[in-house]
Amino acid sequence: KQALTVPRLRAMKSQKKPIAMLTAYDYPSAMLAEEAGVDIILVGDSLGNVVLGYDTTVPVKLEDMIYHTRAVVRGAPGTMIVTDMPFATYRLGPESTLRNAARIMQEGGAHAVKLEGGEELADEIRLLTSAGIPVVGHIGLTPQSVLQIGGYRVQGKSSQEAEKMLADAKALEQAGASAIVLELVTEELAAAVTHSIGIPTIGIGAGRGCDGQVLVYHDVLRYGSGIRDKKMVKSYANIGDTIRNALTEYVEEVRTKAFPEEKHSFPMDSSQSQSSGL
Ligand code: KIV
Ligand code: NA
Repeated sequence: KQALTVPRLRAMKSQKKPIAMLTAYDYPSAMLAEEAGVDIILVGDSLGNVVLGYDTTVPVKLEDMIYHTRAVVRGAPGTMIVTDMPFATYRLGPESTLRNAARIMQEGGAHAVKLEGGEELADEIRLLTSAGIPVVGHIGLTPQSVLQIGGYRVQGKSSQEAEKMLADAKALEQAGASAIVLELVTEELAAAVTHSIGIPTIGIGAGRGCDGQVLVYHDVLRYGSGIRDKKMVKSYANIGDTIRNALTEYVEEVRTKAFPEEKHSFPMDSSQSQSSGL
């Protein structure tokens, strides 16, 4: 299988082929995402929330993103991999942004990076794209700024906010971005942004008018204890309950000595060779 390319991603918008993006953070999640046929895997800094147990994405480091990107690339060698640049690894000027993005590409193996923010990032995005690094933008609710924003609320409800978001989307496209994630944006505004630019929009909590959708792996599967019910999420399985039930049964069987049984054990004088019996 061949990974999606940037020109092909753009073509999907003009051909009205919806783009299916999903996060993944390690080898098995990436492998299953690739087997499911997702177009793009996002190694999101939501890693901080759903895998590392932080309250926000702020504590996630560049090294964390590189480490997890490497595992994802091994699991999904035929899928486009986009990795989030974490908190304060960009915005410090184009050169340091390029240095950090290059580490994500060279050490991590990602095909593109994603940055949260609007037209104030234009210079940094221009340098990245001129250096050959595809960039995905991210506007609307930007979780790295949650402490400044004061909560996870829907963006673009006032006409002033809406105009700013349209201007940001155009500035990102102008600077060379290949796609833009729209998070927690009203359906009307997300559709307007989508129509106003030539690059695909990928929505999360942004309604039906985007060129693609993205969800967090653990939300889709209800995998983990901190999964809140969010209006924007659809869960397609309840893996958390499945795992907890299986683990509870295992613990119970160890305590009652129901496991292991004879068939799991290796007698001294078996005709089976010990190595092939594993
Ligand atoms: O980190 C992440 O998972 C994201 C998506 C929610 C877009 O940025
Ligand atoms: Na993110």
